[in-house]
Order: sequence, then structure tokens, then C-alpha cells
Amino acid sequence: MSGTAPVLVTGGTGTLGRAVVHAFSEQGRPVRVLSRRACKVGDAQATGVDSGNDLQWATGNLVTGEGVSAALDGVGLIVNCATTLGRRDLRATRCLVEAARRGGAPPLIHVSIVGVDRVPLGYYRTKAETERIVQDSGLPWTVQRATQFHDLVAQITTMQRRVPLTFAPSGVRFQPIDVRDVALRLVELAAREPSGHVDDIGGPEVLGAVDIAQRTLRREGGGRVVPVRVPGRIFRAYRAGGNLAPQHRYGRRTYDAYLDERFGLPGHG
Ligand SMILES: NC(=O)c1ccc[n+]([C@@H]2O[C@H](COP(=O)([O-])OP(=O)(O)OC[C@H]3O[C@@H](n4cnc5c(N)ncnc54)[C@H](OP(=O)(O)O)[C@@H]3O)[C@@H](O)[C@H]2O)c1
Repeated sequence: MSGTAPVLVTGGTGTLGRAVVHAFSEQGRPVRVLSRRACKVGDAQATGVDSGNDLQWATGNLVTGEGVSAALDGVGLIVNCATTLGRRDLRATRCLVEAARRGGAPPLIHVSIVGVDRVPLGYYRTKAETERIVQDSGLPWTVQRATQFHDLVAQITTMQRRVPLTFAPSGVRFQPIDVRDVALRLVELAAREPSGHVDDIGGPEVLGAVDIAQRTLRREGGGRVVPVRVPGRIFRAYRAGGNLAPQHRYGRRTYDAYLDERFGLPGHG
């Protein structure tokens, strides 16, 4: 597809961003990654980018603004997968939309999280504010919220590896989604007119946090899961399903399939 303007994937080095770079590249669409660091040998292979389809790279920082205008030069679409995991996301989002407005106002697809308006976590409040920045940006925009990625859900268990017991919040459920499924959805959205807030997407199954911890521990060699009822508003909102989108089971890859890929098939290790 020579002559097609590149897609700028901010956060193209991240968990979702790498899958997004791969998915657009598979479509033959030129992709430019925005990262704070310089391109390293192996970056293209890490995303599985076809060697015949050059990966463009722009070094820039959305919080300081350095390199952002240059990264946007000639871009036909922005897919925003960058996050600082904190309040600096507000500054980063503002920086991106302001630079985009000055630079030809390409459409922007912004990734957010299911339940940012239901679960009273600080990070979620920030994400909800970033949605409003995009909404008021004057750019043609789409916001896609997704449920938790498989990696994040697994991390709740794997981060407790050195503790003799594994704790899991009872009554909490997750609907984990594979980043490759999210990436496919973003490619689908890129082919449409900018659509504003689109339907949430979630993984194919809703699983209890305790069940997820047990499945993960089995692959890690065993251990005991201790269900804990966590008090407070945040976990009440999780127990009420604020993080779920059961009516929008978009992802096809299950959590067990993710575990098979990560730890190998049971009995084949
Ligand atoms: N994780 C989940 O379960 C989940 C679920 C639903 C939605 N989301 C959303 O999906 C998006 C991607 O999440 P993720 O888990 O893939 O994130 P991630 O793995 O933590 O990656 C974050 C990316 O942001 C980039 N970044 C950080 N600070 C930056 C800055 N100042 N300037 C430019 N780039 C910067 C990083 O690039 P460099 O380090 O290379 O600069 C990195 O590639 C986020 O919007 C997140 O809220 C996540």
C-alpha cells in the first residue's frame, strides 16, 4: 500500500501497542511508532512487522511534548495506546490532541477502559478525563473501551509468586481480553468513519478472580489461593461488575488459551 499515510501508534512499544502495530502492518498499512526511546534492533521483529513493510519510528515524549509534532508529520490516523499509568495521562492526551490539531487534524482512536465511569479508582477517573479531552478536541474521534488484558489479570497472581499463599478478591470477576483481539477491533474501527464512543469490548468469558488465580497457579506449579473480601468502594464497584461488558463478548481468545501460550500446554512442560 505505498502512498498510504502511516498510522501513528502512540505507545507502540507497550502491551497493546505492539499488537496494534502488528495488526495494522498485517493489513499492509504503514505504521509509525511513537516511543520515548530510540528504535532498537529487533523492535520490528518484536511486533512481528513484515520485513517488507517498513516500520517507521518517531522518538518523542507526550508529557514534555518533545518530538510529538514531528511524529505526526503526514500521519493519516492516530491510535493512542500510550499511558503513563497516572495523572500525567491528562497532560499527554492534551499534548497529543493539540499537536494533532496543528498538524492536519487526522482522526484519533483513543483506547480506554471499561468501567472508567463506574469504578472509583484514581487511574479510572484520569482515563475518563482523557476521554473528555478527546471528545472536546475538535479532531474526528473514536473512543474504544476494553476490559482488562490477559497479562494484567495474570499479574494479580504472578506478582504474589514469592508469597506462600496467593490472595484473590472474592466476588470480583474479570472478563479478560487478548490484546490481539483488541488490536483487530482497532483495525476495524480504522476502516470506519470516526464514531465517537463505540460499544465496549470484553473477552469471551467472565471468570471469578479466585478461579483465575487458581488456573494461573496451576500453570505456575501449584499453591493455595485464599479468597479475601476486600472492603471499600472500589471493590464494591468491582463486585457489582463495573469492570465488565458481558453483553459485548468481542474477544475470541480465552484465558486458558493465553495460559497455554504463556506456560505451555498442560502436561507438555
Ligand atoms: N492493561 C489493561 O488491562 C488495559 C485494559 C483496557 C484498556 N487499557 C488501556 O490500553 C492502553 C494501553 O495499555 P497497555 O497496558 O498496553 O500499556 P503499557 O504496556 O504500559 O504501555 C504504555 C505505553 O505508553 C508509552 N508511554 C508512556 N509514557 C509515555 C510518554 N510520556 N510519551 C510517549 N509514550 C509514552 C510507553 O512507551 P515507551 O516506554 O516506549 O515510551 C508504552 O509503550 C492504555 O490506554 C490503557 O489504559 C489497558
